[in-house]
This record gives sequence, structure tokens and C-alpha cells, in this order.
Amino acid sequence: MLIHSASQLITLAGGPQRGHQLGQLGLLSNAAILIQGGKIVAVGDSDQLLAEHPDEPALDAGNRVVMPGFVDPHTHLIWAGDRAEEFEMRLEGKTYLEILAAGGGILSTVNATRQASLDTLIGESRPRMQSMLEHGTTTAEAKTGYGLETETELRMLEALLALDEQSPLQLAITFLGAHAIAPEYKDDPQSYTDHICKDMLPAVRDWWPENQELPFVDVFCETGAFDLTQSRQILARAAELGFPLKIHADEFDNLGGAALAAELGAVSADHLVATSHKDIKTLGKSDTVAVGLPGTPFGLAEEHYTPAKAILDAGGILALATDLNPGTAWCENMQFAIALACRYMGLTPAQAIAAATINAAAAIDLDDQVGSLEPGKQADLLVLNTPSYQHLGYRFGTNLVDTVIKKGEVVYQSHA
Ligand code: NIG
Ligand code: FE
Repeated sequence: MLIHSASQLITLAGGPQRGHQLGQLGLLSNAAILIQGGKIVAVGDSDQLLAEHPDEPALDAGNRVVMPGFVDPHTHLIWAGDRAEEFEMRLEGKTYLEILAAGGGILSTVNATRQASLDTLIGESRPRMQSMLEHGTTTAEAKTGYGLETETELRMLEALLALDEQSPLQLAITFLGAHAIAPEYKDDPQSYTDHICKDMLPAVRDWWPENQELPFVDVFCETGAFDLTQSRQILARAAELGFPLKIHADEFDNLGGAALAAELGAVSADHLVATSHKDIKTLGKSDTVAVGLPGTPFGLAEEHYTPAKAILDAGGILALATDLNPGTAWCENMQFAIALACRYMGLTPAQAIAAATINAAAAIDLDDQVGSLEPGKQADLLVLNTPSYQHLGYRFGTNLVDTVIKKGEVVYQSHA
């Protein structure tokens, strides 16, 4: 297939973008892209590629933007039920961590998820995946973490593997048994930590299909969840078992999770709202990707966002994600994360686009396959309904995606 007549083709060629290099779009005008066997074969001038490949089935981009599919590197895609009542409680003055401490929050979704069958989990999560895809996300990370006991956590992994198989949206799976202290261990977080290390991580290792790359292991390092020592214990044990690492760090309090991620060679450290200057510097010197989740402070109506400028000043690799989850940010749309990042993290549209594609791919260790439009890479791309890339960020609240292509196949087309 030849997609031609793109007003702007955003290639994002050249790999992940560190520090103030962020925002190099590799823009081509009047451009085309040739796809064969689900892969990108050539990118270049529209007239020239049309002349060279007259018999190739053509798709006319109609003088609009063509860009890589979004990569959403942090989602809690799979859960049962909703927390609409809690949203109302928060607006009436209760905080997120107060609700969690009272046995609600994550723990209320844990209750619903433990009771849900495999089919229910798949059935409730599939429409969210479809919505992500329709908003231009072609690859996403997806976590467990609403089981907090081996059986339900494994059921969540099974549901995620099935969803990955069934949907064109490609998933990178994460085990987040350390998302909260399980209710059975309410007064003894250390015993739950030990249980994760001794029993749950090896159980996941044994259960995981041999023909699949091991999932990431993630920890919620936060007041009221796992402290720094417990987070280190879990991540070090996971590394010993061969799992690649991620961390939820400094969403509310600066416990030091970002520096821990850099020290342990984690693939990403996510949230980073309360991170100290010292830890930002440490992170900036490492290859750990810093993932900002602007939908989360927005969803909680909080004032502070990930300090993007400080991360770029420190030379960090900055990515964006939705954090899609039932508590803080039920948002399937990376375009909205970009719009928020432009306003509250101070990114330009070009920087936010790079953070939502090639750098987001690096945050799930897939930057050799997705996140840019370069020969040899997977043909995951979007035709936007806009003449120039700045419309991303500038506009919000509607879907700017016209066509979604995954591995060379059209998987969504708007009827606008
Ligand atoms: O990334 N902070 C921990 N996990 C999610 C929230 C999950 C929930 O509230 O259900 C987050 O914000
Ligand atoms: Fe999260």
C-alpha cells in the first residue's frame, strides 16, 4: 500500500530523543509512505513514490498529516466496575490517599476485579481498547494490579494475553501485584512485600508462556503503598528473576523511587510529580525513561504536574502516557494527554508528539519496532484530520484521527 499526498509526514526518525533534542519531528512535506508485508519499505516525496510504484494500492491522505500511531506506555487497562461515586466524594473534599486508607480507591476496584470472571474482565476492557485504537493508540502498556493475590493477578495476565491476541491494539504487559497493600495484609505491609517476593513473582515466572517476552514488573512506591525499602526489595527480586522493571514514583510524595529506578536500570519511572531536583538529575543521566501522566493531576484536579522542563534540562528521556485507570484518570485518549502536556507541562506540540510516540516506545522497550516511520519498522500509523501537526495540542475534546493503520492494515476509519 502507498499512502500519498500527506501535507506533513512526521517520521520521528533517529531514535529516542533525550533532553532538549525532544521535538525533532523529521517532518517531510508532500510526502508518501510505502508499506509491504506490514512493514515500512520507503518514506519520501509523494510524486516520486507514486511514479515509482504506479501499481501499488493507493490511499490518498488528502493533504493531511500522517504520523506514527501513538504509543501509550502506562495504562491500567483492565479492571471491573467503576469509581464514579468516589469522584463525587473527592469533589466533596476527600483526598485520593484518604479514600485509599479507608479501604476504598484501588481497593474498591480490587473487590470488583476479584469477583469478575475472565470473560467479564475481557468484556469490560475490550471497549476501552477499541476506544484507545480509535483515538490513534496502536501500541499500549497494560498492567495488572487489581487482584493483589496470585489467582486474580494471574487471571488479569490471562485476560491481557487474550486481549492482545484478539485486538489489533498491541499490548506490552506489566505485572503490578505491588499496586497497593492487599486487604489481607492491611496492618502488615512488610509481610505482603515478602509474599510478593517469595510467592507471587515466582508464580508469575512459572505461569508465563515460554514463547512470550517476560512482562514488566512495576511497584507503586508511595506513602500508603510501598515504601522505598519495600519497593527496592520487590524490584531487586524481580530483576533477579529476569523481569524488566518499571516504577510508579513520586505521584504524591517524594520517596526516592525515581533514583531507585535509575539505580536498578528500570525501563521507565512514571508520574514524577513530587520528584526532588537531585533525583531528576540522577534520572536524567540514566537510560530510564521519565513518563509524565498529565491526565492524573487533571483527573484529581490537582495543581502540580510532572516538571518537564527540569527533566529536559537534566537530559532525561521524557515520554507521555494516559494512566488510563478507574480512579484517577479514565481517559483512553493520547491526544488529550498531549493537549494537557502543552498547557501544564509546558511542552510544544512537537515535543509532546515525540514524547507520545518514539519516546513512549522507548518507555516499553519497543523503540526498535514502533514509534517512528522509518524503513524496517512496523507500519503503525495515523492519518489525522488536520493540515498541520500543531492541531494536536491546540485542539482538544474531539477526535482528530481519521484513519488508523496497524501492521499495514486499516483498523479504523472515521466517517467524518
Ligand atoms: O497510576 N497510583 C496508582 N495507580 C493508579 C491509580 C489506580 C487507581 O486509582 O485505581 C495511578 O494513578
Ligand atoms: Fe498508574
